[in-house]
Amino acid sequence: MRHLLAVGDLSRSEATSLLDTAEHMAATQGRTIKKLPVLRGRIVATAFFEDSTRTRLSFEAAAKRLSADVISFSAGGSSLSKGESLKDTAQTIVSMGAEALIVRHRASGAPQRLAHCGWVDVPILNAGDGTHQHPTQALLDAFTLRRHLHRGADLAAPESSGLDGAHVAIVGDVLHSRVARSNVGLLALLGARVTLVAPPTLLPVGMEAWPCDVSYTLDDVLARRPDAVMMLRVQRERMSSAGGGFFPSPEEYSRQFGLNAERLAALGRGAILMHPGPMNRGLEVCADAADSAHSVVTEQVANGVSVRMAALYLLLAHGQEI
Ligand code: CP
Repeated sequence: MRHLLAVGDLSRSEATSLLDTAEHMAATQGRTIKKLPVLRGRIVATAFFEDSTRTRLSFEAAAKRLSADVISFSAGGSSLSKGESLKDTAQTIVSMGAEALIVRHRASGAPQRLAHCGWVDVPILNAGDGTHQHPTQALLDAFTLRRHLHRGADLAAPESSGLDGAHVAIVGDVLHSRVARSNVGLLALLGARVTLVAPPTLLPVGMEAWPCDVSYTLDDVLARRPDAVMMLRVQRERMSSAGGGFFPSPEEYSRQFGLNAERLAALGRGAILMHPGPMNRGLEVCADAADSAHSVVTEQVANGVSVRMAALYLLLAHGQEI
């Protein structure tokens, strides 16, 4: 693995190996000394051309746990406002000694361009590009699901991904969601069954070819007792105006596709509620659901550090003892 750009670039064994490495990384965090020396003396850079809380901080925490020095570029306050290009920005950061670039960009394909156009010669990790891919989010989601659903036993089987046969409902704004695209691909690769639930206006053209089922009725899907329900954020910033005509009103969206108190009560006993964050409380998920015993939202965030430690380790330090 040279870069981490899209879940479609991973084989099943590479994805499973990354999740297994993340388990090792999580185990190191129970030690008294939590920092591993594997990236000591090396610089890792985050380059965020689009806003982020979880992904940027999580990558920075992961790199620091591996003893890397971290330099951080954010679009706000940078020379982007003076017209500096993606190419010149990336080359500037790498010239300062960065040995990996963690890139988020509002344009789909920007990390792929950096990886393949020869402007820089370092591993590129995609931290979310437009509506396209968010591979480490899907990996941390798979890691979280695997921990909850397979309770260790099945992971002992050599060919098991830990997710074979699981059923995951992904609900909401699929159209604008790189999280949904990444999760559908990765979950299918790992043997899980995915049902997308959304209004027709929030499903992308061409998704008939995706390896998943589709429903327009959340209550029908919940009645099938999925193992996990992943609520997607309604991405109002990617809609042309408030609502953008994608749904009649926030109230109507919430009534049809929100995880409200009644739907929370309909979840199976062991079912988990996931959300990539940031949550629109009161729109796609009610506060009671977000804070319920079913919710694993904060676990997803915590697991993100282990998964990103694994990704950085495999790209930059593979073979070193952890
Ligand atoms: N899940 C996620 O990508 O969150 P941020 O936008 O805060 O990084």
